[in-house]
Amino acid sequence: MNVLVLNGPNLGRLGTREPAVYGSTTHDDLIALCLRTGAELGIEVEVRQTDHEGQMLEWLHEAADARTPVVLNAGAWTHYSIAVRDACAALTAPLVEVHISNVHKREQFRHHSYLSELAAGVIVGLGVDGYALALRWLAGKA
Ligand code: DQA
Repeated sequence: MNVLVLNGPNLGRLGTREPAVYGSTTHDDLIALCLRTGAELGIEVEVRQTDHEGQMLEWLHEAADARTPVVLNAGAWTHYSIAVRDACAALTAPLVEVHISNVHKREQFRHHSYLSELAAGVIVGLGVDGYALALRWLAGKA
């Protein structure tokens, strides 16, 4: 089983970006965690990050065509991108939405997600462990 872990804008700056909110784990650490978890679970995991919405849409189209499950942290796009939502709506395998921070404890504009109603489940506020939990759940579905 293959799983794509897709991270959206500013997540490449994990570790230096607002560490009080997102912690000290870097994006490279996050990749290592996901690959380690995938190896433990016996699944193929690929982690990608982009600050470009069109790139994210292309990766979601690729996942839809290949019937690949997706773990998605769309960052700020979560809260306003109907284009990312539409691409998620076309996915053909389960989608798990992840947020490192507890968006519900933060500003009002972070409380709404355009993606949650399309997701099999949503994990928020558990730091980067949320990615490992999402992978574990998807591996159990295989
Ligand atoms: C985030 C939460 C979003 O509101 C924010 O724009 C991000 C990161 C999170 O992982 O907590 O970029 O998705």
